[in-house]
Amino acid sequence: MSKKLEEYVVTIPDFPEPGIMFRDITSVIQDPDGLKLAVDGLANLVKDTDFDLIVGPESRGFIFGVPVAYLTGKGFIPVRKKGKLPRETVSQKYDLEYGQAEVEIHVDAIKPGQKVVIVDDLIATGGSAEAAVKLVEQLGGKVVKMIFVMELAGLKGREKLKDYDVESLIVYE
Ligand code: PRP
Ligand code: ADE
Repeated sequence: MSKKLEEYVVTIPDFPEPGIMFRDITSVIQDPDGLKLAVDGLANLVKDTDFDLIVGPESRGFIFGVPVAYLTGKGFIPVRKKGKLPRETVSQKYDLEYGQAEVEIHVDAIKPGQKVVIVDDLIATGGSAEAAVKLVEQLGGKVVKMIFVMELAGLKGREKLKDYDVESLIVYE
């Protein structure tokens, strides 16, 4: 019998800090069947969605965002950690489950009115996803859907994003 997507995820207790249950996707993507289940699963979540672009946060959002963009025939826009993008940017500061960060997007990456799907590996507090939404909206884009491989429901990221259509392939309570 073939394995389910959740069986490819390895959970590491107390990484990178005591108390964090780290849900690792490297064990998913190193296996061709795991990679296919994750990427096809994400693409399936947007099969009926009308959109123009995929936006993915650095770095695990790149791993899943690019193949989903390729499969759905769209372009991919990276949201990068501060100081990495070479042209003019807008930026947003946000809090993580552990720590703080600032992210940026190229100002010419999204045209006003374009419909965007945000892709990432995981939603925890929703801070990274919310920062990506703010960047898209600063440029006049419209976030029509946000899709994740995994959701840590206990951290209530969905509440932060209650005005958006959020879907995940695996939900941890
Ligand atoms: C992780 C993960 C999500 C984010 C989720 O990224 O890939 O982007 O945290 O947490 P949140 O919902 O509380 O914001 P991280 O910033 O650790 O960077 P990485 O992808 O480079 O490992
Ligand atoms: N990013 C934020 N929280 C995480 C967790 N618990 N596991 C993996 N990635 C994360």
